[in-house]
Amino acid sequence: MIVDLLRKSLAILAIATALGLISLGCAPEREAPTDASAADIPVGVFAGLTGPTATFGQATRDGATLAAEEINAAGGVLGRKIRLLIEDNQGRPDEAASVVTKLITANEVIALIGENASNRSLAAAPIAQAHQTPMISPSSTNPEVTRKGDYIFRVCYTDPYQGAAIAAFTRRNLGFERVAILKDLKNDYSIGLAEFFGEAFRKSGGSIVADQSYSEGDNDFRSQLTAIARAKPQAIFIPGYYTDVGSIAIQARDLRIDLPLIGGDGWDSPKLLEIGGSALEGAYFANHYFVGEDRPAVRNFVDKFRRKHGRDPDAVNALSYDATRILADAIARAGSLDRKAIRDEIARTKEFAGVAGVITMGEDRNPVKPVAMLKIEKGEIGLSDWIQP
Ligand code: PHE
Repeated sequence: MIVDLLRKSLAILAIATALGLISLGCAPEREAPTDASAADIPVGVFAGLTGPTATFGQATRDGATLAAEEINAAGGVLGRKIRLLIEDNQGRPDEAASVVTKLITANEVIALIGENASNRSLAAAPIAQAHQTPMISPSSTNPEVTRKGDYIFRVCYTDPYQGAAIAAFTRRNLGFERVAILKDLKNDYSIGLAEFFGEAFRKSGGSIVADQSYSEGDNDFRSQLTAIARAKPQAIFIPGYYTDVGSIAIQARDLRIDLPLIGGDGWDSPKLLEIGGSALEGAYFANHYFVGEDRPAVRNFVDKFRRKHGRDPDAVNALSYDATRILADAIARAGSLDRKAIRDEIARTKEFAGVAGVITMGEDRNPVKPVAMLKIEKGEIGLSDWIQP
């Protein structure tokens, strides 16, 4: 009986071994996975793939992935492939800090791409700086982000610049003198952009006739909108993110407030028009790039992205693609994976033909690029003007 069972088990073992299901001690040693990945270049990407601004995070993932695929198909960098390690921070600053800690200490990434939202970049930057790991934010525009240290970069313009551009456009192109502001008090980006816009607008002879606020996630904006209407502005400036902006626009129209709405780069999302619909007709907002710009870098990227995803890329797609390519370029010039050498080369980036403009890193690790002012007309987003204040 027992002998029989033993014989049966041995037979099963023999078949399984022959099929390669079980490897015995004497099987030839496979290359350990750590050896295989040491040949790659691990780059951390941290983004809010879920949460209130999920399209920003998903756009970063897709833009960075397209760049990495292209770079790897062309042979990689220093003969190695870029390997992206993508972490979801759920759109939360505390979670951004914890995934970045993990990417640096457990995954030993050589650099980081992220975050989009300034408050998440502000939470992560001190950690990257403390570990001397270069971090490139695709789209965080708050000036404080790159002040966190000399390992922290961005590939977009900053809010003092964006605010001045929107103010110049509002005053000169649109000819408005009286503007109201409705900002998000839970958002460093929103508070900063409201202030920089207000300052520049007043300097150019305009006045801010109402200054109202809300907190991200609120769903009733009627009392603020009513107070704004009472101040009789010619337009409302809303430096917030796309989800809230869509609801604000709908409630304004419900209250028969027909004023033009003006926004910043935080409006850019494929969901903006889905949420706000016709309530956003006639609105203007600032952006980092324009999909129809006639420049080889833009045409090439837009074509490739459309072929892969079947839709137009947004600004965060473009900026994340640029950030990843700038990093690869810096690694190639550094000639090694030494983080300090890579940092120094990112800092030396000069006239890089990005999709979202031509990028030269300034002393302060911020590029300066023209601002695209877009207009929503008949449900389509078109270019109104390029502004360089
Ligand atoms: N500039 C925004 C911030 O700093 C983020 C953002 C950029 C969002 C571009 C959308 C598009 O918080």
